[in-house]
Amino acid sequence: MDSTSVKVKGKATGVTATAHPSGDKRFKVLDVTMKRHRYQQDALIEILHKAQELFGYLEDDLLLYVAHSLKLPQSKVYGVATFYHLFSLKPKGVHTCVVCTGTACYVKGAQTLLATVEKFANIHAGETTPDNQLSLTTARCIGACGIAPAVVFDGKVASQVTPEAACDRIKDWIS
Ligand code: FES
Repeated sequence: MDSTSVKVKGKATGVTATAHPSGDKRFKVLDVTMKRHRYQQDALIEILHKAQELFGYLEDDLLLYVAHSLKLPQSKVYGVATFYHLFSLKPKGVHTCVVCTGTACYVKGAQTLLATVEKFANIHAGETTPDNQLSLTTARCIGACGIAPAVVFDGKVASQVTPEAACDRIKDWIS
């Protein structure tokens, strides 16, 4: 992920928001969450929770992005992220698969897709395979509703993923 970010001045509110130049739609979803909390610093835990749901874990660039957006010192954001056990700073497995189960993806069969992947990998969402090769998680919307059902494989968003395609994608990771 690109560690740089650009400042965008919000027209209506005059609030300075931070846009991520990577084009990754998940940052937009995170922006919406931060905006909903009015970029309030005391919403940090909820915002980190959303960030982890979207990205699977809280990597450095993501923490930096949140710190800039909320105008908090990096040390504060790192402190909170490392204090709570529910936050993970590293992917648990070597590979990650995030199945979006938001409304648009749900309508397009995300539940079947998730169930198929769970069966294929022999783990449930939220778990990592015993050999540590694959972590499977879910997100409620990753900002890619137009290409539902969407799945994020190792940080890359894949569109209109069928259950078969998802299993095909992860089969080399878990064999
Ligand atoms: S609901 Fe899946 S990307 Fe929005």
